[in-house]
Amino acid sequence: MTAFLDLCGKDFRTDPHAVLRKAREADWWVETSMGAAVLRFDEVQAVLSSWSLRTEANAALSGLDGEEHQRVRRSAGRAFTARRVEEFRSETGFVADELVDGLGSSVDFVADFARPFAVGALCRFVGVPEELCEAATSEESGDEVVGDLLDQRRRTPVNDLLSSLVDQSLTEAELRSLVVALLVSGSQTVQHQLSSAVAAFLEFPRQWELLGEDSSLAGAAAEEVVRFGPSMLLGTPRIAKEDIVLNGVTLPAGSRVLPVTASANRDAAVFAAPDRLDITVPRTAHLTFGGGIHYCLGAGLARVELQEVLPRLARAWPGMRANGDVEWSSPTDAVYGPTALPISLG
Ligand code: HEM
Repeated sequence: MTAFLDLCGKDFRTDPHAVLRKAREADWWVETSMGAAVLRFDEVQAVLSSWSLRTEANAALSGLDGEEHQRVRRSAGRAFTARRVEEFRSETGFVADELVDGLGSSVDFVADFARPFAVGALCRFVGVPEELCEAATSEESGDEVVGDLLDQRRRTPVNDLLSSLVDQSLTEAELRSLVVALLVSGSQTVQHQLSSAVAAFLEFPRQWELLGEDSSLAGAAAEEVVRFGPSMLLGTPRIAKEDIVLNGVTLPAGSRVLPVTASANRDAAVFAAPDRLDITVPRTAHLTFGGGIHYCLGAGLARVELQEVLPRLARAWPGMRANGDVEWSSPTDAVYGPTALPISLG
């Protein structure tokens, strides 16, 4: 019989990575109240790419399956191109510079930088005017704001992501839920990822110093922080469409499976010294952005944002240090990271 891991317990809340390490070393999976949690790299990768599993059904792109998913994803992909993301690189830097210039010497990194940066950059990328950014990225009011913006773009198209999405063959409901999902999840994940990256660098100050001295480490730094402290801890749950057998264990049709990417990313069979943040060693590709048909649509954008922001901050704040306790969201939340991160900028 496999072990049970208490995802709501104090230990998991306090140090989820330590709890996952112990469980992963004992077995490739554990039972939890949220489903079967798969912990090792090879098995997590297998779950993410298996055709016998699907995501939980909902109206957003991430909840679709089969041909319906393919159709909406293709349309979204036509607007969300690698070229558009690359062209956005310099604007990302501009948003970051503007925020850095306005800061004092003691800040809460989450409220004063990560949140306004993530919201501001994404809204520019999508084409949401500044005064509507907060409303458009909030779960409560996003839908209405997005509906109005799409109506405007239909009447008067401009050169932005919203206008190219309007051109795709999606229904009004599909369009709305796609844009709301992009805005809400794209801002929350980047906010938490940036904050979690800064928390990691506070633990490994030599790595921060190295990044400040050498901007060519930007790409490796972005990958390493995303591996080390993913802003989605438990992965996107999957449901077995039929009985599946993994390593001799049968997971019956209908069972819920968690591809715990944060655990897979620290699997010692794949990553040397996995609990160390090291931006100087080549590493196997991490699984934080998921895999298979649902692989994160915004991964390219998130990478550009991290690659532009992190070296800028490391250069601007060489003496950055902790200035109080870091508070973290619950590890069972869909998006995970610091909710308060007081730092002194030196
Ligand atoms: C560091 C930041 C980010 C992380 C860690 C992240 C992570 C993920 C993960 C784990 C998935 C599900 C993949 C799977 O289960 O196989 C996903 C899907 C998705 N992400 Fe991201 N994401 C990030 C940023 C973004 C951004 C910036 C956007 C858009 C602006 C975005 C849009 C999406 C969309 C639309 C999907 C659904 C794709 C599909 O179902 O086909 N993400 N993301």
